[in-house]
Amino acid sequence: MEKVQEYNKANQDRYLEELLDLLRIPSISADPAYKKDVIKTAKEIAKALKKAGAENVEVCETKGYPIVYAEKIIDKKLPTILVYGHYDVQPPDPLDLWDSPPFEPVIKKTKNHPKGAIFARGACDDKGQLYMHVKAFEAMNKTRSLPCNVKFMIEGEEEVGSVNLGPFCKKNKKRLACDVVLVSDTSIISNKVPSITTGLRGLSYLEVEVTGANRDLHSGVYGGAVANPINVLSKMIASLHDKNNKIKIPGFYDDVEIISRADRKAMNEAPFNLNSYKRELKIKEVYGEKGYTTLERTSIRPTLDVNGIWGGYIGEGAKTVLPSKAYAKISMRLVPNQDPKKITKLFADHFKSIAPDGVTVKVHPHHGGNPAVTPTDSVEYQAAHLAMKETFGKDPIPQRSGGSIPIVSLFEEVLGVKSVLMGFGLDTDDIHSPNEHYGLFNYYKGIETIPYYYKHYAALKK
Ligand code: BES
Ligand code: MN
Ligand code: MN
Repeated sequence: MEKVQEYNKANQDRYLEELLDLLRIPSISADPAYKKDVIKTAKEIAKALKKAGAENVEVCETKGYPIVYAEKIIDKKLPTILVYGHYDVQPPDPLDLWDSPPFEPVIKKTKNHPKGAIFARGACDDKGQLYMHVKAFEAMNKTRSLPCNVKFMIEGEEEVGSVNLGPFCKKNKKRLACDVVLVSDTSIISNKVPSITTGLRGLSYLEVEVTGANRDLHSGVYGGAVANPINVLSKMIASLHDKNNKIKIPGFYDDVEIISRADRKAMNEAPFNLNSYKRELKIKEVYGEKGYTTLERTSIRPTLDVNGIWGGYIGEGAKTVLPSKAYAKISMRLVPNQDPKKITKLFADHFKSIAPDGVTVKVHPHHGGNPAVTPTDSVEYQAAHLAMKETFGKDPIPQRSGGSIPIVSLFEEVLGVKSVLMGFGLDTDDIHSPNEHYGLFNYYKGIETIPYYYKHYAALKK
C-alpha cells in the first residue's frame, strides 16, 4: 500500500490536470447539440483507462450514448470489483448564475473547502468521482499492487435515465460478471465526518399538459367564462399536498416501508445541524411533511415536486391573454417498497380525475427508477467501512441519501450483486446547480481510499 500512496503523491498534479481536461468537454447528455462532445468524452475515458493499464478497453455502442468498458483480470480465482460511474453531466443552465464558465474549470477556496475546490459542471457529479477510480486503478496497477480483478462500466446517460444500460447489462451478463459493484456518485456528511450511502430513493418523473380552449384568447373578451389552464393547473398542483404536506394521491403511501422507532432514532443521531442547514440555504424555516425530521424527509420519506411550470406569456411587459395550454414537469422521489410504474399510474389517474370539465389533461411519463437499500452487515460494506476508517481516521456512518441512481436496483436484478455506494462529494457541492464544485481534498481522499477498499475487500473475501 505504501507504494500505491507514494505513486499517488508523486502524480497528484498530473491527476488534477487530467481531470480538468475531462471537465472541459461539455458532455451534456440531455441536449442533442452536444452529441459530439458526449461521444468525445467516452473516447477520452477509454484512452485514460488504457493508459492506466486496463485491458479489453471498448467504447460500446448503444442506441444512445456509448458505454465504456475495460477490465484487468489478474487471476480468475480472485474476486472481481465492477466500477460504475457516469461521464455525462446535467445541462449547466441557468448560465448567468455561474461565477465562471461551467466548462472552464477553475480552483477556488470555499468555506467547506478551505484547500480549494474545482468549479465546473460535472466536477463532483460524476466526472471527478469516476476519475478517482481511474487514477486509483492506475496507481495500483503501475505499482503491481492490484489485490483483485477489476472491471469498469462507465455510462453516458445517467442524467437522462440510463435507458440503454439495462439492455447492455442483460446482453453482457457474462462479461460483467463480478462480486460487487463499486460506485462513487454520492456524498459524505462532511470532510470531517465520513459516511457511506446505504439507500437511494426511487423516481417517477412525468410531464402534464393542461389544455383549455383550442387557441389563445383575449383575456378580456373571454376571461371569466373559459377555463384558464394555468389557473387550473396551479389549483390542481396545490391540491396534491394537504396542510401537513402529505401527498394526497390515493394509494400513494400504501407500499411505503415502515421504519421502526429504533431505526429512526439511530438515523437522527447522525451529525446534522438544522441551524447551519437553514443558514447555508438562506431560509428562515424548513418545510416538509409533518412528523418527520429534515434527515428523514430527505431519505426515508417520498416526495412530490414540480420541477418546472410554464405556459402563457412570459416575454417583456404585459400581454392580456388567456392561454390555451399550461404545462408542468413533476417528479416524485420514492422509497422502498414503492414501485415507480405503479406510482406513475396512481398519479395519472388521480390527476385526470381532479381536472374540471373545462380542460383536458394529458400525462406523459418520463423515466423512472427503483429505490435501493444496501445492507451494512455484508463484506462488501465492511470493506468500505474499513477503507474509510483508515483514510479518515474515523468510523464512517451509514446514511441513506435522498438522490436516485436508478441503475443500482438493476445491478441486483440483472447481475445478482449488491452495490457499495462509497461517494466523496458533499451535499453542498451544488451538483445540478450553478457553480457545481468538487473539493481537492475530496478528490485526493477518494483516490487514497479506493485502493484500501480493494485491499480490504480482497482480504475479507479470502
Ligand atoms: N449522482 C446523482 C445522484 C445522487 C446525488 C445520489 C447526491 C446521492 C447524493 C445522480 O447523478 C443523479 O443526479 N440522479 C438523478 C436521477 C436520474 C434518473 C436523472 C437524480 O437523483 O435526480
Ligand atoms: Mn451522478
Ligand atoms: Mn446527477
